[in-house]
Amino acid sequence: METELLTGKIAIEKGAKLIQQGNIVVFPTETVYGLGANAFDSNAVNKIFIAKGRPNDNPLIVHISSKDQIRDLVSNISEAAQKVIDEFMPGPITVIMEKSQKVPNEVTAGLQTVGIRMPVHPVAQEFIKACNTPIAAPSANTSTKISPTKAIHVYEDMKGKVPLIIEGGDCQVGIESTIIDMSTEHPTILRPGAITEEMLAKVLGSVVTFKGKVIVAKAPGMKYKHYAPNCPMVVADSIESMISEYDKKLNDNAKPILICKSCHKNLILDRRYIDVGNTEDEVLRNIYSALHEGEKLSNYIICEDFGNEGKYASVMNRLNKSSGGIRV
Ligand code: TXA
Ligand code: MG
Repeated sequence: METELLTGKIAIEKGAKLIQQGNIVVFPTETVYGLGANAFDSNAVNKIFIAKGRPNDNPLIVHISSKDQIRDLVSNISEAAQKVIDEFMPGPITVIMEKSQKVPNEVTAGLQTVGIRMPVHPVAQEFIKACNTPIAAPSANTSTKISPTKAIHVYEDMKGKVPLIIEGGDCQVGIESTIIDMSTEHPTILRPGAITEEMLAKVLGSVVTFKGKVIVAKAPGMKYKHYAPNCPMVVADSIESMISEYDKKLNDNAKPILICKSCHKNLILDRRYIDVGNTEDEVLRNIYSALHEGEKLSNYIICEDFGNEGKYASVMNRLNKSSGGIRV
């Protein structure tokens, strides 16, 4: 078989015609090049497995050019799956859902689920649209070989095995799509990619990573200012800067107050301060109360930096918010 390398409108037209005749065609996507066939044509799909030397028990994902095509391919779109679709499609993500009757077993290797991907690459979109059918496609490499990110990679690996390679430049993402399984109780990442676990967790609340770790989204409220007293508050880099800031404010006719551990008592002398104890647990226990007291007793709070060891890191997490990150 001769392998043609074409680009532009001619490539799309020829590619679509080949697909409609039950052939396979290589096309570019933003992740890697894909080797496509009509997803509803089992014979055509089998040609992919032959050309790649791919085991039949390894399912293919189905590529679409419009979200309307999803309804035909799956039996149900959960609310969570819809969120992922709304947020990340088109783009480098594959969403696994329960398959519909229409999807042949050859595509899903007998599984009751199907992976759906809508590439954002304009040539991929144009090609799939011109085919007028969803396109089953794995990466366009011989099984076990490196995935292709340039048309020349495909040509060198697959020449003689495919009739047409649609040339679409270098793949801009460069690794395969993130695969997220939305058919299970807990959304699970099966393959990490450019859409990260953090990005997915943000949309879904939590997600199980491909290593089995649960990633919980940052609580939505975390981005807002929090734990702020009614008066300005700063965190001091050192005890010395804490004391000099206090004296400066006093000279400016402000009413400053210090929040710090008892051990600094001998340096503080007769300056006003709130003692939060000396141990991690004491500081944890006393810190909010100290802030409440501080805002009542003064109009400028200067707090010690307790460092980032152990539970002090949690205290500083709050104090950095209280102070709006302002340090002296
Ligand atoms: O970026 C990509 O996803 C590229 C481009 C061409 O779209 N495609 C791609 O396909 O990487 P492939 O076949 O090389 O990798 C798809 C992976 C395979 O590991 C396959 O086992 C898995 O997806 N897969 C497909 N359908 C699945 C399903 N229903 N459940 C679980 N895994 C599935
Ligand atoms: Mg692959």
